[in-house]
Order: sequence, then C-alpha cells, then structure tokens
Amino acid sequence: MSQLVPKVEQIQYPFPPKPLPLSEYEKSEHKARIKQLLIDRDAVLVAHYYTDPEIQALAEETGGCVSDSLEMARFGRDHPAKTLIVAGVKFMGETSKILSPEKTVLMPTLEATCSLDIGCPIETFSEFCDAHPDHTVVVYANTSAAVKARADWVVTSSIALEIVEHLDSEGKKIIWGPDRHLGSYIAKETGAEMLMWQGECIVHDEFKAKALRELKIQTPEAAILVHPESPASVVELADAVGSTSQLIKAAQTMDNDTFIVATDRGIFYKMQQAAPGKTLIEAPTGGNGATCRSCAHCPWMAMNGLQAIEAALLAQDTRVHEIFVDDELRKEALIPLDRMLNFAQTLNMKVKGNA
Ligand code: 13P
Ligand code: SF4
Repeated sequence: MSQLVPKVEQIQYPFPPKPLPLSEYEKSEHKARIKQLLIDRDAVLVAHYYTDPEIQALAEETGGCVSDSLEMARFGRDHPAKTLIVAGVKFMGETSKILSPEKTVLMPTLEATCSLDIGCPIETFSEFCDAHPDHTVVVYANTSAAVKARADWVVTSSIALEIVEHLDSEGKKIIWGPDRHLGSYIAKETGAEMLMWQGECIVHDEFKAKALRELKIQTPEAAILVHPESPASVVELADAVGSTSQLIKAAQTMDNDTFIVATDRGIFYKMQQAAPGKTLIEAPTGGNGATCRSCAHCPWMAMNGLQAIEAALLAQDTRVHEIFVDDELRKEALIPLDRMLNFAQTLNMKVKGNA
C-alpha cells in the first residue's frame, strides 16, 4: 500500500517561447550548416522522441540517435564522438555529462527544463529522504544531478517497474520521486510500499479520461496507448501502458490498425515509421469547452529548434549551451545511474537467455 505525503506547493510554470517559424529555404540552410558543423566538431546529435520531427530526422540522417531517455544516455556514453549535442530537456544533457565527463555536452538551450525537475528541489527532497532513513530512495531520471546524487537508484519509465519489483522482492521500503502518477502506477503493479513525492508532468497530467472514453466510443477499433505519467483514470483505460519506446513497440506489434496515443505527439514520427499504414490519433487533453496549456506537446522539448542547434555547435556562448556538472556531485550521481544501467544489462542478458 502506498502512502502519500502532502503535495508540494503549486508551481506556476512559465511556458517558454517557441522557436520562430522558419521558411523551407532557411531550414535547409540551417540543416546543411549543422551537418558540416557536426563533422567539424566531431559531434553527434542525440534526440528524444518528443522533439520536433525535423530534429529527429536530422539526427537519423547524420548517424545520431532518436530514442527514449535511457537509450539516449547509453548511446551518448558509448559513441566515440568527442561532443554530444543533446536535443531534449536539461536532465538528459546532465545525465549524458554524468556518464561521459570527458565529452563536451552541448544543448540547444539550457532553459529546456521539465516540470518534474522543477517540482523536486534538492533541499526539500533531501529533507523528505532524511525523515525516512529506513527507505531506499528511487528517483526518476527526470531530476537534477543533485537529486540523483541523493538517490540510491535512478530509473527511467522503461525500467522502473522491474527495478521496483526487484527492490520489493528484497523487502525494501521505497521513497519514490518525483512523478506521483508514475509512482502510483508502479505501486499498484508491484504492490511495493512506496512513499510518494507529489510531482507531475504538466503534459501527461492534461490527458482527460472522460474525453478519452468518448473518443473510444467513436473509434471502438482503436487500441489506447498510455504513458504512465498520465493520471490513473487515463491509465485505467489503456490497452498498453509503457515508456515511449514501449509504446512504439506496442503500435508496431499489436494487431489494431488504429491507436489513440496518450503521450507527447512528437512520438508520432517514430511510431509511424515503426507502424506504417496505421492510424495514430492524439488522446484528448480537454473535454467540451475545456482548455489545455501544453495540449500534448512538451513546451520545453519544443525549444529544440534548428537555429538553437546551430548556435550550440558554433559554441557562441557556453553559458547558454554547455552542460557542466560539479565533479564531486557527478561522482555521487553516477552511482545510482550506473546501478540502473547495470541492472538493465542483466535484464537484457536474461531476456536474451530466455529467447
Ligand atoms: P522516456 O524515459 O520514456 O523517454 O520519457 C521521458 C519523458 O520525459 C516522458 O515525459
Ligand atoms: Fe518533463 Fe513532461 Fe516534458 Fe517529459 S513531457 S520532459 S516529463 S514536462
């Protein structure tokens, strides 16, 4: 049974400005210059599924990677390039730097943050952990380097269930932070005893169960795919629940020809590649007359424009583009991150062994 702690104070998120729209000519000019700069700087572009399809296509064309946050971290660590340009949000750049301190890690903008990261300040989270010293601290990757350094384990949504299951089987009581929806889903699935931090993703939190039910009535042939950062009432309606890469796999392998997808719509680019000919519909973020703020598109992921990538590669201002993590903090944060990566490797070996 999971227990709840009081909700952290309501934060008003200042939505960042979107990159200015570019003409087709400007886009092709930027892309050509970025391709050359990647070569000149011995750099590789690592992009998340939620970035603009144009950025994902550029990463693919230039031998980079488009993936979920776990794979981004692994790819960046294992790639021989001296410079990583991480198109995503800040915690993804920090994770890359923690794993690859010898590399230069650049981001289109360091202002691309995440509501989960903002909602989990190290001071209060640390007090919460200190108040429960008999608990194992498990934090989602969507956190600052300082919060990771305070944790025993880091997890991403693609491996959270397995890690919590493993800790529960060892009789461990867990502090979970920061996403309360993902935490509740995992507690329900595993039966683990979890004390929850009360953060949320402002994008997934906006999906609405009532409107989703109505949409399902209109399209009964569709399967519903849900990222577990969504509210429990939305998760309950899902035919498949999973991380970004798991949802892409579900669209590819399930027999349905139509899918209603409750996660950032940036994922449609890779999902459509994996499931050509299938119809993908955005899950609703508002009912009749309701308004949405993010409308299923992460405002911080949207900051990763072509102009910003070019500026980062030109290294015009390292304060705007380069990720630095204090070395002591980095070493501490590496321990729970490595724990996750080693666990993932063991799990892969088991899966391959059973295949
Ligand atoms: P993944 O770990 O599935 O890539 O998700 C990251 C994220 O920010 C989801 O909102
Ligand atoms: Fe954070 Fe949500 Fe954006 Fe993912 S989609 S980066 S969890 S705000």
